Amino acid sequence: MDRLRIVGGERLQGAVAISGAKNAALPQIAAALLSPHPLELNNLPAVTDVDNMLGVIRLHGAEVSKGPGAVVIDASAALSKETSYETVRKMRATVLVLGPLLARFGHARVSLPGGCAIGARPIDMHLKALAAFGADIDVEGGLIVAEAPNGLTGARIVLSSPSVGATETAIMAATTAKGETEILNAAREPEVADLAVCLNAMGARIEGAGTHRILVEGTTAWRPATHYTIPDRVEAGTYAIAAAITGGELELTNARLEHLASVVQALEAAGVGIWPGDRGLIVSRSAPLAPVDITTEPYPGFPTDLQAQFIALMCCANGASLVRETVFENRFMHVPELMRLGADITLQGTTALVRGGRKLHGAQVMATDLRASVSLVLAALVADGETIVNRVYHLDRGYEGLDRKLHMCGANIERLGE
Ligand code: UD1
Repeated sequence: MDRLRIVGGERLQGAVAISGAKNAALPQIAAALLSPHPLELNNLPAVTDVDNMLGVIRLHGAEVSKGPGAVVIDASAALSKETSYETVRKMRATVLVLGPLLARFGHARVSLPGGCAIGARPIDMHLKALAAFGADIDVEGGLIVAEAPNGLTGARIVLSSPSVGATETAIMAATTAKGETEILNAAREPEVADLAVCLNAMGARIEGAGTHRILVEGTTAWRPATHYTIPDRVEAGTYAIAAAITGGELELTNARLEHLASVVQALEAAGVGIWPGDRGLIVSRSAPLAPVDITTEPYPGFPTDLQAQFIALMCCANGASLVRETVFENRFMHVPELMRLGADITLQGTTALVRGGRKLHGAQVMATDLRASVSLVLAALVADGETIVNRVYHLDRGYEGLDRKLHMCGANIERLGE
């Protein structure tokens, strides 16, 4: 299992190319199963979650050919097979194949994802949405069995909270449902909007994605399509925090300011300068870091996927800050690991009280999930001495070339093999 060795103290400077968004790529790969025509996806990030999702659709008979920077998926000969627990266990997002398989073939069998490191994460809203289209949904022995032998029928779906995955499942199922579907209290994340752009290029008729109300007119008129996946706002936010925590300056090429408004607001309040450049965003800090309170919320609020990184930053602020997590009930696994580096953090329910300003010291730490792991890397960039981050495979799930990108802008970081 690879580990990262980081020696803190280097100020980051230079340019970082932001890759395509993992969380946009995964539903787009699943969506390819809807159509008998090829889908060319450009700008997919080279991360293991994307490889896993491509593996899943291959299991369902899709042909995947990889070219430079693009993947062509031909699902003309696809079938609805059972998606095993072994597959779903590796990556929860695998459950996103449920909607497309049911919509295209009238039946789908997908293993129920187990609990995961960041809370129970049920999929009740996905299943409720599919039932609203007229599907029979049973959960038998850990397997979701969805049947709609006569096809799906358009419906009015009101989500009890704006779940990203449930919104994506509902949109994909609605594309072939007879008549019109209205999805209310939909998630507004840019990844949801980008899925609709991709599906519309494939022939779907979706309006309003990116807002609370999405309308879908069912169709079977699919066509070959090409899509360019949006840049990863979480990766961009992570490198913005890397620049901020080291008192450096980074140009984040491809990053989009409009996807990062709440993050920019929080960073500016902490004394970090962010402005648009010719190729993306420029992030720079020269003043001391001020403490800032944040609360995670669905988009356009502060993203839960940047909460761990922001806590690492606040460990270096001059004063105390409160970080409240409202999206996932158990997303503070990074806190004990950050404390091993010398951070002073008290957890009270869903709030972390971060007392900044204590010097961090290198230590052995353990990655527990994707974003928790990267917060340890960020803290290590400013810790005295050497930090070893174990279980780097968590980082490889969602950060393309993290060690390479950080090294290129001056970090003292290397990957150690077994
Ligand atoms: C997606 C992102 C993940 C991000 C999260 C919130 C992908 C592949 N992953 O995850 O990185 O952290 O959005 O921005 O895009 N919930 C239910 N029942 C459901 C579905 C969700 O109770 O049927 C709950 C979850 O447990 C969680 C909250 O709703 O507490 C939000 O989850 P959701 O928006 O669905 O997140 P994901 O789509 O799983």
